[in-house]
Amino acid sequence: MFSIFKRNSTEQLPSLHCDIHSHLLAGIDDGAKNWDDALAIILELKKCGITKLITTPHIMSDVYRNTPEIIHENLRMLKELLAEQKIEIEIEAAAEYYLDEHLYRQVLDKQRLLTFGNNYLLFETNFLSEPYFLKDFIFHASTQGYQLVLAHPERYGYMTLSKAEDLKNRGVLLQLNTISLNAFYSRPIQKMAQQLIDKEWINFLGSDCHNMLQAAELAKTMKQKYYQKALALPLLNRTL
Ligand SMILES: [Fe+2]
Repeated sequence: MFSIFKRNSTEQLPSLHCDIHSHLLAGIDDGAKNWDDALAIILELKKCGITKLITTPHIMSDVYRNTPEIIHENLRMLKELLAEQKIEIEIEAAAEYYLDEHLYRQVLDKQRLLTFGNNYLLFETNFLSEPYFLKDFIFHASTQGYQLVLAHPERYGYMTLSKAEDLKNRGVLLQLNTISLNAFYSRPIQKMAQQLIDKEWINFLGSDCHNMLQAAELAKTMKQKYYQKALALPLLNRTL
């Protein structure tokens, strides 16, 4: 029978085998600084039982002007390095889109955006206030067939359980950052993460790993009770 709990060799802890959110393409966002850094982080994630990475560089019009071409070229380089170093891991790339008026305009103009799996589009918003066009963006992107995945809902200052429920009702899937459960960011973020798990509203877990510190934090978080509780949810990571 299919088992959701496969044991990894190093930690002997249950793990999700596919990670859908990370910043591992060297030098194109605030994640891995160079290729050595990227390989070291990937080895650390492998120790956490991850066998497939869908890495998601930032696309943010004012700061990280990454394009599908830049991302795919960097993915090609990373795959070559992994092969050279004989590091076995499956790796794909999509993006973490920052929701600003530029992205909203791209959707209205029907420009093709980077997705993964079942046309999942990972996006984030600013951390302080809900964008005034969030609901219009959701409507138009969904109409075009994208399955929206909101990155780390627990981290937004404006997020409440009723807002999260409203997003779910609009068809938005929610991706929790696993390390939020270990209070990596703050206690209030940890609390919101726990509440979202209690409500069973989380569809994906992601490491959102940018560096070695966060990779090490992921290993620690895997020992948390709430991580085990999250693994009992019907997470879509398992379908990828
Ligand atoms: Fe991220």
